[in-house]
Amino acid sequence: MTLSQTSSPPAPPDSETVLEADGLTKHFAVRKSGRQALTRTPRVVHAVDDVTLRLRRGRVTALVGESGSGKSTVARLLAQLYPRTGGDIRLHGESVTVKGGRRFRAYNRKVQMIFQDPFASLNPVHTIRYHLTRALRIHGNGGSGHGKTGAAELQQALEQLLERVQLTPAARYLDKFPHELSGGQRQRVAIARALAADPDALLADEPVSMLDVSIRLGVLNLLRDLKERLSLAILYITHDIASARYFADDTMVMYAGRMVEGGSSEAVTQHPAHPYTQLLISSAPDPDRILGLGTPDDTEDTSGGEPPSLIEPPAGCRFNPRCPSAMDICRSELPPRFDVPVPVELSATVLAGTIDGESPHWAACWLFDENHGGTGTSGSTAPAGTEASQ
Ligand SMILES: Nc1ncnc2c1ncn2[C@@H]1O[C@H](COP(=O)(O)OP(=O)(O)OP(=O)(O)O)[C@@H](O)[C@H]1O
Ligand code: SF4
Ligand SMILES: [Mg+2]
Repeated sequence: MTLSQTSSPPAPPDSETVLEADGLTKHFAVRKSGRQALTRTPRVVHAVDDVTLRLRRGRVTALVGESGSGKSTVARLLAQLYPRTGGDIRLHGESVTVKGGRRFRAYNRKVQMIFQDPFASLNPVHTIRYHLTRALRIHGNGGSGHGKTGAAELQQALEQLLERVQLTPAARYLDKFPHELSGGQRQRVAIARALAADPDALLADEPVSMLDVSIRLGVLNLLRDLKERLSLAILYITHDIASARYFADDTMVMYAGRMVEGGSSEAVTQHPAHPYTQLLISSAPDPDRILGLGTPDDTEDTSGGEPPSLIEPPAGCRFNPRCPSAMDICRSELPPRFDVPVPVELSATVLAGTIDGESPHWAACWLFDENHGGTGTSGSTAPAGTEASQ
């Protein structure tokens, strides 16, 4: 049972929290074949189980994990693009479940998604002006659009959007088609389109992984600038934990549908506590990766075994078949979140970004349970892959 994630009541809303999820769960039904079709037991993919996270105003939260760990499913659930199997989603403290229609559009105005492939997300037969005008109109932000005043208001709103994503002079881009722009420029247009809604939260699903290495940093810096200027709460999904360290204030690590570690990026990336996070960090040791310079393929972690089946996930800790530190309890009982002590040299910066009642660094790992020889302090301060994995 996930003690700290589900049994405690949700924390009261605070002015900084924009979007939060508690116990978020998504199981996809699997079509049965052959003899399985004769059985009554439903077969499901446990894509996301009991995920709890909080996105705060003016902060980037990275969601890191290998392919298939459930990152995109979390983003789509938060965007209400999928119905959820369980859990709660709160926008500014209010529980929201929407399935389309006007209420979905109102939610969507506040919570916008940015996808990995900007080319696929823009219609090739329409200009940038068309895409942005449509987004402004859908969200009622482009002026009346009628008469001379309306046209001037719309033009001003379009120029402002392109300036926000540093595509200037705007006139140079407005009447171009997506194929006439570079990948980085297209992703900037996709970001401008999201901003047309005037959102409070941006869910960015691997926003730079398909871009040329040389322009990734520029797009990440743009997102960081927007977060500060517009006080946006940003979810940044990535395979690359080193770019999370560079770009995100907070980092959450996901493995096989579950959150396994989280806290301030500094604590999580400099002093990884969970053996899986240690594995991720040790497979990305090159300091260049800190600048998000890895490619999707070379940042993908395949070391130390394969991820488990999500149809029949391992009992206990889902990482136990790959974990060098696995104990008996790991094979039968799901570890709850344990607080990880923050090293003295990090405590001032880490604690400064923490709100009341929230752990600055936690890990869902029995190694941090005092009753099982917990090594909270030594595990949290050990270099990656050493003490905590013995
Ligand atoms: N519509 C769906 N139907 C059935 N299974 C799905 C569906 N969408 C995702 N899954 C499964 O859910 C799991 C999580 O997928 P998800 O796309 O969320 O992972 P991810 O962490 O985003 O991976 P990647 O890094 O490759 O994008 C995977 O096992 C995937 O096959
Ligand atoms: S020590 Fe146990 S609980 Fe911790 S990661 Fe390894 S298998 Fe999971
Ligand atoms: Mg994905």
